[in-house]
Amino acid sequence: MTATVLTVASTKGGAGKTTLVMALAGTLAAEGFHVAVVDADPNRAYASWAESAYEGPAVSVRAEADETRLAEAIDELAPSSDLVLVDTAGFGNRAALLAIAAADAVLVPCTPSRADIEQAAKTLKLIEGAARASRRAIPARVVPCRLKLATAVTRHALAELDAAALPRTEASIGDRVAFAEMTFSGRVPAGDAGQEVAALIAELRGLGWLPNRPSASAAPS
Ligand SMILES: Nc1ncnc2c1ncn2[C@@H]1O[C@H](COP(=O)(O)OP(=O)(O)O)[C@@H](O)[C@H]1O
Ligand SMILES: [Mg+2]
Repeated sequence: MTATVLTVASTKGGAGKTTLVMALAGTLAAEGFHVAVVDADPNRAYASWAESAYEGPAVSVRAEADETRLAEAIDELAPSSDLVLVDTAGFGNRAALLAIAAADAVLVPCTPSRADIEQAAKTLKLIEGAARASRRAIPARVVPCRLKLATAVTRHALAELDAAALPRTEASIGDRVAFAEMTFSGRVPAGDAGQEVAALIAELRGLGWLPNRPSASAAPS
């Protein structure tokens, strides 16, 4: 089997990309999926967390920020995985563009600020450009992240995303201590934070962007 490749990208740093990759990878690995993460960020935030803090079922990790080798790294991991998640750097660098070009689908985390919404729109344009250049569709969704739940600013941000006709997931990720704690504890959050991740996973499955069940043949490399 060959994995689905899901790239997490935004031109803006601090939007919650790495946090989303940590939560998705850990949750899906705990469900029995063979998950691989390619860390295409030269800062290696995911990879160093995986080495030093992550506590959970095995996730295959490859740090590859060199755009000349990125697509190859993804291809190498795909046959032994159900899912390859690609974490990217927070600027429109070439590795991020290659990660978009290699993706079956792209998630664009976006916090509820005007600057972030503008950057999300820019990221979607970049994805559209990559799709055009490669003459295929690269579906993408904005994932509202770090939402302060039930606040006016959050309602306003969601309304702005919709007014700008930016495709977004219904599921969103709240601004929760549990997500920040994950960077220290290495454990993927349960409770309300875990439910948000589960809702996002369910929605992504509905879109056909995540496998429904672990394949028997895939094995951690
Ligand atoms: N949903 C969230 N709730 C609380 N803190 C968050 C959340 N998402 C991200 N953070 C924190 O914000 C900072 C930036 O997040 P990160 O995932 O590293 O962003 P990016 O990878 O897009 O640069 C980190 O310190 C992280 O712990
Ligand atoms: Mg990051």
